[in-house]
Amino acid sequence: MPKLMSVNTFEHNQRQCQLTEGEEVWLFGYGSLIYLVDFPYIESKTASIRGWSRRFWQGSHDHRGTESSPGRVVTLIEEAGAICHGVAYKVEASVFEWLDVREKNGYLRLSITMAFEDETSETGLVYIATSDNDAYLGEASEYDIAYQIATAKGPSGTNSDYLLELADSLRNMGVEDEHIFTIEKYLHTIDTN
Ligand code: BEZ
Repeated sequence: MPKLMSVNTFEHNQRQCQLTEGEEVWLFGYGSLIYLVDFPYIESKTASIRGWSRRFWQGSHDHRGTESSPGRVVTLIEEAGAICHGVAYKVEASVFEWLDVREKNGYLRLSITMAFEDETSETGLVYIATSDNDAYLGEASEYDIAYQIATAKGPSGTNSDYLLELADSLRNMGVEDEHIFTIEKYLHTIDTN
């Protein structure tokens, strides 16, 4: 499929998804936003979204890999009946000036409805890397994904640390995610020396 979306989505997000100054917005985090919280927030709570699965199908050129040797990071894939658990943050609109830079490698800010444990819900935003962005890698076997993760590193650190921190955070939250834990299990069997 031809790639329609430039790998740098910063301008697109700033232009297409404008917010009002001072507006409070719910943001759903399902990847590094769960454990790397380098932005101010008003409130956070565990949350889930329906119809989406977390998958290591996005390439990382700028954080956990390089353009010539990309790492793999998570995105969301539509899947009927699936539930993805994560963390929701209530943030001020100005936070997206930073997050759009941090998540510029192919991620678009899209609207989503998230459910909380008390059975209330809110519509907010989520970053998703769709298959039409230049850095998208797509499906591979969980072993091949683990192998790529085992060897990749970029300006933000090793791709292994990204996977292990995400897996640990999900475990601590009591979340079962077969895709993530299977890749983690394979990673521990791979000797990169
Ligand atoms: C997240 O943790 O929600 C997230 C994952 C990938 C890119 C941007 C955000």
